[in-house]
Amino acid sequence: MARAKSAWRCTECGHTHPKWVGRCESCGAWNSVAEEPVAADTARRGVRVAASGTAPIVRRLRDVDAAKIARWGTGLPEFDFVLGGGLVPGSMTLIGGEPGIGKSTLLLQAAARLEASGRTVLYASGEESAEQLRLRADRLGGATGAVHVLGETRLEAVLAASTAIDASVLVLDSIQTVYTDALESAPGNVGQVRECAGLLMRFAKDTGTAVVVVGHVTKGGGIAGPKTLEHIVDTVLYFEGEATLDYRLLRATKNRFGSVDELGVFEMTGAGLVAVANPSALFLAARSTGTAGSAVTALLEGSRPVLVEVQALAAPSGYGTPQRVATGIDPRRLAVILAILERRAGVSFANVDVFVQVTAGVKLTEPGSDLAVASALISSIQNRPTPADALYLGELGLGGEIRPVGGAERRLAEAARMGFRQAFGSARARVDVDGLRHRGLAHVDELVGSLAA
Ligand code: TYD
Ligand code: MG
Repeated sequence: MARAKSAWRCTECGHTHPKWVGRCESCGAWNSVAEEPVAADTARRGVRVAASGTAPIVRRLRDVDAAKIARWGTGLPEFDFVLGGGLVPGSMTLIGGEPGIGKSTLLLQAAARLEASGRTVLYASGEESAEQLRLRADRLGGATGAVHVLGETRLEAVLAASTAIDASVLVLDSIQTVYTDALESAPGNVGQVRECAGLLMRFAKDTGTAVVVVGHVTKGGGIAGPKTLEHIVDTVLYFEGEATLDYRLLRATKNRFGSVDELGVFEMTGAGLVAVANPSALFLAARSTGTAGSAVTALLEGSRPVLVEVQALAAPSGYGTPQRVATGIDPRRLAVILAILERRAGVSFANVDVFVQVTAGVKLTEPGSDLAVASALISSIQNRPTPADALYLGELGLGGEIRPVGGAERRLAEAARMGFRQAFGSARARVDVDGLRHRGLAHVDELVGSLAA
């Protein structure tokens, strides 16, 4: 087949170059020039509409049937939950994560269950040979044997194979290992990743196949290849976890068919991934009550409340500028909380190194966890543990005031279920949860007082 001509376009400014260059001649961006096909494609993309062509039918919105979104359950309830109920036919889902986190394991387990429920699944891998997939499958047991596998890196061949067996679901592991004939550049190249993603998306829409694609995450945390990949697909999931720990968090950051920020929790075992039904228990399992510098808060991950422990350690600093080391919390937010404690509550961290971390590799992204961070800090510097049965939930204002947090009832209900008996929060919060005493605090001063008692 004659190769279509290529163009080299800057992904930043759109300027086209006759050949690859390391730096865009127009905008000066480095490594932004990617290959893309031209010529044959111009006609396909309908740049010019022939006057004699039949015009497509335009309808009023009310005449369009409300589409009922069909869902195919993957048989892994946590996976389905994060997807918003299951895979959607004709959609494209991207699963990102660091190497070794368990993406292939998750998808092979899902593929086996889909096959068991009567759907044909093609698991195409450019990463592993069919023999290597077989080794993994043997560990997982169950019905993995029924999954259709293919070790192939040429996208056109993968799509042909999927069509040939009439697969309902196509899993492609990974987008960085495939290439299309339309481009000359190597697999993994920005242009290849984008073009392959585009072809897969079109394939999904044209055939109704649910396409699931694995994407490797770079050190910076982005899915390798450009951000455009995330714009192309319908759903983006991230699979993450601490390399040294066995649990894995699955999270949606984009979902055209469901909500984002839902959290699915798995544990990696000797026989694959197992759903964790009670994440709060898992996250608090290693908690050491009675030690200063620990406080528990309740996060709302999508619709699901989860309890996590915040740990702080304040230690006299040697010399020079004291260190502030934050893991799982934005260092700038930590700086704000330290400043509030210093100026509004008279608790000083001058000449003290401060280390804060959130257990379980969870990240604190909402200000509702401020109160727990502040409590852990005060507890550490005063060397007094927080009460073992106390939960902390509130946002700190710059004036030292403590503000209520959304979804408090749901969070506190989870705390009560996990055996907590008192909740420190905003005096303005109106909450009434069985078995949990709400202790309202107006100002961070009162928090210091409660911890000194
Ligand atoms: P894998 O799914 O290959 O990760 P990814 O595709 O994201 O790179 O997972 C690899 C890791 O998981 C590897 O360290 C082995 C471990 N593992 C288990 O602990 N139990 C299992 O049953 C399987 C299949 C893998
Ligand atoms: Mg893999």
